[in-house]
Amino acid sequence: MKTNRERHADICIIGSGIAGTLAALELASARPDLRIELFSKGALDAGASSMAQGGIAVPRFNDPSDVHQHVQDTLSAGHRSNNEDTVRRIIGSAHHVIGLLERYGVQFDRAGSDYHYAREGGHAVARVIHVADRTGYEVMRALHGHLCAQRKICTRVHTAVTDVSRGPDDPYWTLTAEEEASGRLIERRGSRVVLAMGGSGWHHRWTSNPVGAVGDALKFAGRLGLPVQELDAMQFHPTAIYSRDQDQPLSLVTEALRGAGARIVNAAGESFVREADARGDLAPRDIVTTAILEEMALTGADHVYLDARQLDPMVLRERFPTFLRTCAEHSIDPTTTLIPIRPAAHYQCGGIVADINGRTAVDGIDALGECAYTGMHGRNRLASNSLLEAAVMALMWAKRCATEEPTAIRPTAAEYDSEAYDSRSH
Ligand code: SIN
Repeated sequence: MKTNRERHADICIIGSGIAGTLAALELASARPDLRIELFSKGALDAGASSMAQGGIAVPRFNDPSDVHQHVQDTLSAGHRSNNEDTVRRIIGSAHHVIGLLERYGVQFDRAGSDYHYAREGGHAVARVIHVADRTGYEVMRALHGHLCAQRKICTRVHTAVTDVSRGPDDPYWTLTAEEEASGRLIERRGSRVVLAMGGSGWHHRWTSNPVGAVGDALKFAGRLGLPVQELDAMQFHPTAIYSRDQDQPLSLVTEALRGAGARIVNAAGESFVREADARGDLAPRDIVTTAILEEMALTGADHVYLDARQLDPMVLRERFPTFLRTCAEHSIDPTTTLIPIRPAAHYQCGGIVADINGRTAVDGIDALGECAYTGMHGRNRLASNSLLEAAVMALMWAKRCATEEPTAIRPTAAEYDSEAYDSRSH
């Protein structure tokens, strides 16, 4: 394996999900003089953001009192172990974020003059705005389109960052990455490194996460001395389609389907979640998951069922095309047949301790999105609050860096290699 010569970048972003991509785009637009390099260990869209189905939870646009209710629902789902100030600030920025995503080209579903709001677990009202049940895919399609067109950001796909380090008197971080196809090692020296590397659900036997969700950011946290919090708070999504195939993530059935009327039942066709919580199938995820696991333990079954037979086929076609395609892949007709489901590890609520601007305990290392712990989610995330948190953090981070950078002594122009900053490798 050969190493190419070192090059400088002002900002090295690791991760191409909503947090990393939006952070790169926003900073590039505010500070076109900065050299930004973004690394993705797989394809751009191989992460969890593109798989998010349900949508983005926001206070209802036509009801000013819903900001308060959204905050209360978030605190209640998180068992009040959240950082309330963070919750208020992130939810308070939600409408701004939606406007921004629309300017990037995302077209959320509408109902008349307002958005169409879906209902998900733990929400007192329907407040999840979405693009059918492929919201993450559509958001990331729009953002990645801009990323590919942005020549100020050098994007490297299938290039895994293997190390981040800094010598005692060195103002720069050194980042080592390996190109998958060639095995070539790349070294970058940068003023700032951003960890936007997603979660760690793949370590669990049953998971909805993509294969790359192995907690890479936590590995760096250990090496760099970054404090972490609530790592045991892995959220399980109650409704993943049960399959014995362990090489693939389990296919998720969006919680919005329960919001539209689907019910969780046992083999006898009986609802059972209401015995655990009066909100029944639309209680927060940890409650629904525990009820399912207890039912499985009681009956000795390895799954329960989701009953979507009562839903209007027209509604299914319009709002849940991903669900219908997934059912078809499993040879299930949801209009006539119960869907076998079980809980699956879905979201890492804990992570690297960071503030809402992505600042960690180590100067020059930032953390954004699922790998960060801001206290937004507490021990149990409210459904569809995570794209919101990641997007708000990316915006706030970019705003901060636009005024702070560069923090270290900048390299001379000759030390940059302009060839490195062309968008390529997509
Ligand atoms: C879902 O659509 O149920 C998943 C959304 C989320 O994880 O918040």
